[in-house]
Amino acid sequence: MSNTPNIIDGLHVASLVRDEVRCDVNDWLAAGNRPPKLQVILVGANQASKVYVGAKTRACNEVGIESETIVLPDTTSEKILKERIQELNNDDSVDGILVQLPLPSHMTPLAVIESIDYRKDVDGFHPMNVGRLTIGQPCYRSCTPAGIMHLLKHYSLSPRSKHVVVVGASNIVGSPAAIMLSRENDEGKATTTICHKYTKDLTLHTISADMVIVAAGVPGLITGQMIKEGAIVVDVGMNRIPDPTTERGYRLVGDCDYDSVAEKASWITPVPGGVGPMTVAMLMKNTLLAAKKAVYPD
Ligand code: GUN
Repeated sequence: MSNTPNIIDGLHVASLVRDEVRCDVNDWLAAGNRPPKLQVILVGANQASKVYVGAKTRACNEVGIESETIVLPDTTSEKILKERIQELNNDDSVDGILVQLPLPSHMTPLAVIESIDYRKDVDGFHPMNVGRLTIGQPCYRSCTPAGIMHLLKHYSLSPRSKHVVVVGASNIVGSPAAIMLSRENDEGKATTTICHKYTKDLTLHTISADMVIVAAGVPGLITGQMIKEGAIVVDVGMNRIPDPTTERGYRLVGDCDYDSVAEKASWITPVPGGVGPMTVAMLMKNTLLAAKKAVYPD
């Protein structure tokens, strides 16, 4: 028998979030404040990074956030990059600083992230923000997991008392998602299992999950056979698969084998159009919070 899951429509929900931010920015300006400003730093010419930065710039324009992108060559030293960041830390006209990842291999990403003033870290990657997240204190939250939590809330898919399996333990998505889901607050209260590339039998875990969040970066990793009937499936994967029939020469697929997972799931995110647009929308929210100094008042 064929199953038709409900679609978690990230394109739609992200546009609602951007509308809300645009209205809030207008109120902020009407109260006599200057526009929020996001400073983006892109090191090197990673094609996917350029696309992501372009999407962030467009979203800023749409909601009334000023944005500026510094593009540095991939031969830039870590010392020079940190000096540029220090200038931005000291620049009162800059509210949020975002260094697009990945960085060239000669750099240590954590050292670069730590050089950003945590009060301007709208990506939520600084150890101060990650640490505060883990103890339930106000902080900037990593945009992708924050976007997932927003989607779940929008569709009234409460994680409370559910068994949630997070596949992938990255600092950007899997790990903060697992923390958000398991904290004992209104949006959390899940029983959370984190799986990763060292997990012996992935299916053993996913098959018992009421909700599966997949952020492993492995196309087609999760198939319908690994999913419990009626489970909620959130696919964070954004994998470029070569496809000469498309204009760009590639197409985007998630970490789930969509067709077989859709046979089992009650709710599912499409790729593209699921979690991806939420990341950018939540960045807009964080940048407005930074301009308002709402997370870290002076
Ligand atoms: N690279 C992939 N995702 C992200 C993100 O959310 N922020 C930054 N800065 N880089 C990324």
